[in-house]
Amino acid sequence: MQARPSLPSWQKLTRLAGEKKHQHMNDLFAADSERFNKFSLELPGLLLDYSKNLIDDETMSVLFALARETDVAAWREKMLRGDKINQTENRAVLHTALRRRSEQPLMVDGENITAQVQSQLVKMEAFVNQVRQGHWLGYSGKRITDIVNIGVGGSNLGPQMVTEALKHYSDNSVNMHYVSNVDGAQIVEILRPLDPQKVLFIVSSKTFTTTETLLNARTALNWLISASFDETAVAKHFVAVTANKENAVKFGISQENIFDIWDWVGGRFSLWSAIGLPVALDLGFDKFKALLDGADNMDRHFVQAPPEQNMPVIMALLSVWNTTFLGAKSQAILPYDQTLHMLSSYLQQAEMESNGKSVSWHGDELDYATVPSIWGQLGINGQHAFYQYLHQSNNVVPADFIGSVTSVTPVKGHHETLMANFFAQTQALMTGVNEEEICADLKAKGREAPYIDAVAPHKVHKGNRPTNTILLKRIDPATLGMLIAAYEHKIFVQGIILQICSFDQWGVELGKGLAAKIQQELQAGETRVSHDCSTENLIHYYQKVSGG
Ligand code: F6P
Repeated sequence: MQARPSLPSWQKLTRLAGEKKHQHMNDLFAADSERFNKFSLELPGLLLDYSKNLIDDETMSVLFALARETDVAAWREKMLRGDKINQTENRAVLHTALRRRSEQPLMVDGENITAQVQSQLVKMEAFVNQVRQGHWLGYSGKRITDIVNIGVGGSNLGPQMVTEALKHYSDNSVNMHYVSNVDGAQIVEILRPLDPQKVLFIVSSKTFTTTETLLNARTALNWLISASFDETAVAKHFVAVTANKENAVKFGISQENIFDIWDWVGGRFSLWSAIGLPVALDLGFDKFKALLDGADNMDRHFVQAPPEQNMPVIMALLSVWNTTFLGAKSQAILPYDQTLHMLSSYLQQAEMESNGKSVSWHGDELDYATVPSIWGQLGINGQHAFYQYLHQSNNVVPADFIGSVTSVTPVKGHHETLMANFFAQTQALMTGVNEEEICADLKAKGREAPYIDAVAPHKVHKGNRPTNTILLKRIDPATLGMLIAAYEHKIFVQGIILQICSFDQWGVELGKGLAAKIQQELQAGETRVSHDCSTENLIHYYQKVSGG
């Protein structure tokens, strides 16, 4: 397979980046009144404006050529038909099958996974209805009022992010809580006000081997048993979502309380499976289905649209352009809708665990920049914290601005103020303001020359900072499903273009293994393996101070 840098489109992009980085978007806008029409894309429910990037017709056409030369369409086909494109784990990648409305069989290792998915959805729906309607009773015969999801990473971020985003649609039949941190402070605080008779725990762990999750689940189990004095209470208060039934049963969870996921669902793409159970319990099964349908709509768009009209493909190409060719090191995710306050954390895992890698499919060291670091938070809060850096630091940080046209919780005057900031920021990041304009403004305000000379350089904003604007009609289950699926496919396309194995996560294993050894040492009160002198002394200090 041809190394990426030797592809004609790659070479052209390298040349173009050298030339175009000296351009200013202000000039590109001035030269082309059609720029918004050319570089935006509307789908039912959402609009992507990517015109505020350092692109023009030529660059975009070479980026589309890159998508073709790297066989994105063929790889998409391989993913959707269940080829084992997760090469290092020899697994298919089929989160799309979890939301696929088609009933056509899809075979993986001789099994019809469409039927497996359907049967779990039926099981989920029955369970969700039982709990929400008060028919699922705790050990003392009381209805369940509180659900505690215990899981971490993909078994936490997706469902929690969606629960937060769709809060408005909850009828509060149950209260949702999430425990992910192994710091006991979290579970203690969450359990403190709860009544064990009315709590249902979901232990969410694809592998059912994750230390943090199992320890939290054990603590929850002890809490329940010490309140109920009855081991049989576990069957009424614990369910699990896992691909490792054996471990869940060993833990004490009854067979019938276990929901399946499969090895062809990656943890960070698992929200659409029974890992999304908390969402379904909170909102009702119909709204969970609407979320899946929204994602399926995006899947269909991703499959059918040519690269030039394909939202996830365009998002991926822009990220490759900004990072690999123009040298951006990080990318900000800036939602302006309060409900999306966890989106950047969610995308951090989705993008960085997928593509934060530096060897190719073949194990060769990559000599080009791959994925930027992803960070961000609610835009308005960010404006009063780190936007200074976005506007004036000498690092360019491309940013995705995500907002909605209609607020689901309108309060007079608030949404307009919010959205005025939303529009103003991308404009300011692009246009900037030069020294001449600043001097003229200060002069008009009656300032004297010495003051103007001293202050003007500090007020210069060079602008030319790339942003994408994603405008949702409103945050609802279907639109949110579309948005998340768009990012999922963007990540996939980016991985294909950069020749990265996007679906493994070997980078988390080294630290896990060491932590297990150090934990034994902390328990034994002595170091048993040799560490570097920094780690060794830190452990000694900890042991000395803790008296261990
Ligand atoms: O350690 C990283 C990771 O494996 C993620 O990929 C995953 O989402 C998370 O841990 C949780 O894993 P599990 O669902 O198996 O507990």
